[in-house]
This record gives sequence, structure tokens and C-alpha cells, in this order.
Amino acid sequence: MSTAGASASETGYQPVFTGEAMAALEALFERYPTKQACMLPALWMVQEARGWISERAMAEVAEVIGVTPAYVKGVVTFYTMYHTHPVGRNVIQVCTTTPCSLCGAEDVLRTILLETGCEELGRTSPDGRFTVQEVECLGACGFATPIMVNDDFIESVTPERVAGLLEGYK
Ligand code: FES
Repeated sequence: MSTAGASASETGYQPVFTGEAMAALEALFERYPTKQACMLPALWMVQEARGWISERAMAEVAEVIGVTPAYVKGVVTFYTMYHTHPVGRNVIQVCTTTPCSLCGAEDVLRTILLETGCEELGRTSPDGRFTVQEVECLGACGFATPIMVNDDFIESVTPERVAGLLEGYK
């Protein structure tokens, strides 16, 4: 398979889907109507194994499920929960859609960027602990500002609560 488009850092790319991982994916194939329908779980497997999904990994997923790399990239870039670049140990998602924005989400976001040391959206803190992302409605508009830290859903976050919340994530 062509590796065109892979970055230099991926020259020594090790496939994810070998051995146990391939066996796990093949077991999934049995449970879905088509291989293509396994794309989301296959991408999760990549992200769990590598922490993010590189162009080369997208090409690998495309090959194992039988679609084009462009199709896989379209899916990966549609969902904010898939990371297309390396991230910190803890990924923080902050809702800044209009209802939360009107209730102070921008202040929460600014405080999180400051407290984590990330400074900018999408950037990882110098200690590797955090990456901060802005996301659309998290479905808790009545509890502004909601954030997610990895799989933890936290409602009613205020700038005053941020420092204490972050202490729980090393
Ligand atoms: S707008 Fe923020 S949770 Fe819905």
C-alpha cells in the first residue's frame, strides 16, 4: 500500500492491526453487516493504541475495512473525539456554543487555557498533561458551562472551579 502523504515521523510506522488487535477487529466484522460499518470502532482501537490517529493510521484503517483513505479521513475529521495530532494525557473539551457562551463559557475556557499552561486551543501543555479543545453543544445547555475531561462529564464549571478540577488529572 502507498504511504504517500505520511510524514517523515511515520516512516517507521508499525501497523495497529496485527496479532490480538487484528483478531479483535475480525471478531467485530462478524457482528456488523459490512466491514465498512466497523470504521468507528476500528478508529477507536487505533486511538486507544496510539493516542491519536495519523494519516498513516487512517490509510491502515482504510485498507483493513476496504474503503479509501479519503473516506476514512472524512469520518475522522467530522468527529471531535478523534484526535488527528498527538494530545496530552488528558483532553479537555469545553462547550462554547451560544447558550453556554452567553453564560460565561469563554471565561471558563480562558481560565482552563491559563491554568493548564496550554495557552492556545489544540496545543498540548509543556508538561504533557493537557490538551484543550473547543466543542459544539455537549447536550447540557441548562448546566453551563459543561466540560469533558477524557470520559468525565462535568457540569456547571465556573472559572473559580477550574483549578480544583484540574488537580484530579495528572
Ligand atoms: S450549548 Fe453548551 S451544552 Fe448545549
